[in-house]
Amino acid sequence: MKNKASKSNISCTSALLIHNIYLCPTFLLCHFLIYVAGDFQKFTTENITIDCGSSGNVSNWQDHRMWTGDTETSSLFTLEERSKPKVSVASSATQPPRTASQIPYSTARISGHEFRYIFPVTAGQKFIRLHFFPASYPGNFDRSKAFFSVQANHFTLLRNFSVALTVDHLKSEVMFREFCINVEKDETLNITFSPSPTPPDSYAFINGIEIVPMPSNLYYSATNSSGIKFVGQQNFFRVENKFALETVYRLNVGGKDISPPNDTGMYREWSRDDDFLPPELPGVLPLNSSIQPSFGIIANYSAPVEVYRTARSMGMNKTKNLSYNLTWKLPVDPGFNYLVRLHFCEFEPNVTKESDREFHIYIANQTAEPYADVISWSGGNGVPVYKDYAVSLQNQESLYVALHPNAESRTKYSDAILNGLEVFKISNSYDSLAGPNPNPTPLTPPPFNAGISFSGRENAKMRTKTIAAAAAAFSLILALFLIWVFVIRQRKRAEDESVSSSDTLLPAKDQSLPIGLCRHFSLSEIRAATKDFESALVIGVGGFGDVYKGHIDGGATTVAIKRLKPGSRQGAHEFRTEIEMLSQLRHVHLVSLIGFCNDGGEMILVYDYFSRGSLRDHLYKTDNAPLTWKQRLAICLGAARGLHYLHAGAKRTIIHRDVKTTNILLDSKWVAKVSDFGLSKMGPNNAANAHVTTVVKGSFGYLDPEYFRRQQLTEKSDVYSFGVVLLEVLCGRPPLNQTLPKEQVSLAEWGRICYQSGTLEQIVDPHLNGQIASECLKIYGEIAVNCLVDEGIRRPSMGDVVGSLEFAMSLQEGGEQMIKLDPRENVAFYSSDGTTSGSSWLMTPSSVGESASVGAASSDTDRGMTGIVFSEIMNPEAR
Ligand SMILES: *[C@@H]1O[C@H](CO)[C@@H](O)[C@H](O)[C@H]1NC(C)=O
Ligand SMILES: *[C@@H]1O[C@H](CO)[C@@H](O)[C@H](O)[C@H]1NC(C)=O
Ligand SMILES: *[C@@H]1O[C@H](CO)[C@@H](O)[C@H](O)[C@H]1NC(C)=O
Ligand SMILES: *[C@@H]1O[C@H](CO)[C@@H](O)[C@H](O)[C@H]1NC(C)=O
Ligand SMILES: *[C@@H]1O[C@H](CO)[C@@H](O)[C@H](O)[C@H]1NC(C)=O
Ligand SMILES: *[C@@H]1O[C@H](CO)[C@@H](O)[C@H](O)[C@H]1NC(C)=O
Ligand SMILES: *[C@@H]1O[C@H](CO)[C@@H](O)[C@H](O)[C@H]1NC(C)=O
Repeated sequence: MKNKASKSNISCTSALLIHNIYLCPTFLLCHFLIYVAGDFQKFTTENITIDCGSSGNVSNWQDHRMWTGDTETSSLFTLEERSKPKVSVASSATQPPRTASQIPYSTARISGHEFRYIFPVTAGQKFIRLHFFPASYPGNFDRSKAFFSVQANHFTLLRNFSVALTVDHLKSEVMFREFCINVEKDETLNITFSPSPTPPDSYAFINGIEIVPMPSNLYYSATNSSGIKFVGQQNFFRVENKFALETVYRLNVGGKDISPPNDTGMYREWSRDDDFLPPELPGVLPLNSSIQPSFGIIANYSAPVEVYRTARSMGMNKTKNLSYNLTWKLPVDPGFNYLVRLHFCEFEPNVTKESDREFHIYIANQTAEPYADVISWSGGNGVPVYKDYAVSLQNQESLYVALHPNAESRTKYSDAILNGLEVFKISNSYDSLAGPNPNPTPLTPPPFNAGISFSGRENAKMRTKTIAAAAAAFSLILALFLIWVFVIRQRKRAEDESVSSSDTLLPAKDQSLPIGLCRHFSLSEIRAATKDFESALVIGVGGFGDVYKGHIDGGATTVAIKRLKPGSRQGAHEFRTEIEMLSQLRHVHLVSLIGFCNDGGEMILVYDYFSRGSLRDHLYKTDNAPLTWKQRLAICLGAARGLHYLHAGAKRTIIHRDVKTTNILLDSKWVAKVSDFGLSKMGPNNAANAHVTTVVKGSFGYLDPEYFRRQQLTEKSDVYSFGVVLLEVLCGRPPLNQTLPKEQVSLAEWGRICYQSGTLEQIVDPHLNGQIASECLKIYGEIAVNCLVDEGIRRPSMGDVVGSLEFAMSLQEGGEQMIKLDPRENVAFYSSDGTTSGSSWLMTPSSVGESASVGAASSDTDRGMTGIVFSEIMNPEAR
């Protein structure tokens, strides 16, 4: 879905500064520890994170930093308002962000008058990050009316800034901007938000503020240095403390996005660079993932090691290389000086000596470096270096960074290399960094949400794209989508239904099928498939009707056929409409609707069939072999991705309403498939008594208490239920077990109590004994408990959950990779770079296995689900 044709003019702005995932670090747990040392420790201590418009201290589920609310007084800051009485309000967005982290984006401080945060910070160079979510806020704060300026001490960071215009332009949901300023001794850091005088009714808002100290002279010039090369000028340029900087690009050239927690402790975000190269000449991507860069020339916190393990070069063909420039085109605001930092690390084993690879560097079409030679700068292979250049861009709207091989024969490889690229805008003589807003984006919402991305990674790719490009991309996507749907329709499902990736295209065999979003079955086809609804083929029963196992396409494809009870008030038209909507949902972690039949007053749905049954069938009260911890994690992650897609990826938000382990099916390769979504309106009882249905829908043990109280359904109800699923998977017991002591009956309650008292590991499924890395368990428990928070708005979004589970998985894998297992003690240590940090492997106390109430469940009380729930349907082993 990536559009390569989109290198058009972005009038301004920090494409970099959108992100929506990890605001930061549990990495405190692993990565961070590696880097804590001397000087570094000093600058990480004063790390301020303000969640504007909220109260108390809240933990961000992805960065695991504490964000402090601004509605109570705090020693961290003072909030000042010019108007008396104070008029700024703390507010929650009417719609919380769908794709971004809830903290700090779901709440804001808003005012029609100037307000100011005063931070009594220590002197020194700091990062300031301002986080914005341009929602409409209650009280007539329309998103399009926010025009405001931001000052930090005497610097103008933003002027007459419209978050809505910027975010729409970047096709993102939320954004942040990063600045660097120096705070003098005995000075406070004042950040002032002022609504613009025009248009009338302008207001200012802010969702989150980060102040992160930086190591001195990471970007600024040291007092004793002569400064950096000023491209196109004779003199040097000193990045002095009198300047403020704004980060415009921070690219991991040839590599992946690096989220803030994976930075070297400063929470910088690094983005991939694909969008900034011409698709026809993107160079090649050498990679050396095993290299351990040896820092000697530059500080080891300059950039994450991943930046130095990936690069872009031109390739082996000298003739071709000499015919072009490897060129990055970076849209910028004209009228400013820029600081350009190029990161290099020669990691290809054959480049070891000076002049092995010599090349020219052009910045803004001028020679910045006539004979760049990384080895001569670094002293050897595997040693990272960076080079800084200043350049004045008075008229150009794009900054070109171009590399060209040296043609002279002394150079062994006529090639060039770059590993990382950072670009900063430097404040002008008015101490301003402000640029214009982008032009309004025409209000044509792209169908299929082409612009909304599901992850930060996607976002990084999407954010620079223009409307035209998006339209082009959309046609392409639509075409691909139709082809894909066509193929899906056509493909025969062999007994092995295990296509674990949705983009595996099986050869189309049945050419007679109609092209359309959903396959229509005749009643006779269905009768043939189910041997005229033979009762021996019933694999599930529910209030809605029965589910049959059936064979279609002459027996080639096994399907689950759900026959709704006759007498439902659901009209045939409504039925079709809903089916069409559902059939457009395609995701590797969702059970696909193959088709439907509404002949002769019947309402029948045909789904993929999965022989392994549901997740529940592999957890407890089963003869199936217990799943390993890695399998369980992968299944949870898959299910979370499927739910995230339902919430954020579809044209409209789809709330599952009945998330539970019996609704997570498993294909033959153990890929999780969420089933039973979206049929909310189709229960036979539903139309008869909508109100009651709203109250009781869902299964006991999984039901969101807030939904129960308020009868207001949001996607956060699914998040709650998913939290129960996480505990069920961890503990191997049902959500409700009446035979246990009172406090243990509800797994959600009991899990929370155990987590809080630090005894979660004692209720872990004994089958997982010795399998869970303790850091992984810590995060996993935290995710589960956060999902179960009482107040919906405080729960993570499914996107947050996906990010955190990915992280938990990486901790588990990291732990397993680096494990040195002593079989006698069953204790392992993580080792990083040869040092053991001594994190122990989790051991479930064997006593738990004996006391045995865990896992050895009794009555399955959650069967007490209400009759209208479409559950246990495609689940063949159920009953
Ligand atoms: C970074 O450098 C410091 C000393 O300056 C050292 O203590 C630390 O171990 C280094 N970290 C890594 C990952 O090399
Ligand atoms: C929140 O955190 C700040 C800084 O760590 C601390 O000073 C403050 O007491 C905390 N407030 C609450 C309500 O826990
Ligand atoms: C910050 O604001 C306070 C109170 O308004 C003022 O006294 C102080 O001079 C300001 N500091 C700077 C650096 O602007
Ligand atoms: C701010 O921008 C808006 C929209 O471009 C414009 O109408 C308004 O005049 C500007 N206000 C100021 C003070 O420049
Ligand atoms: C090198 O590139 C040139 C021009 O693109 C092409 O004509 C030639 O065939 C290539 N040589 C090899 C060995 O691929
Ligand atoms: C590479 O870029 C420089 C500076 O823009 C230009 O002078 C040169 O002609 C370019 N070379 C090629 C082969 O495009
Ligand atoms: C700079 O180089 C780029 C790409 O090589 C080219 O498209 C652009 O027109 C050049 N700009 C100027 C001002 O020469």
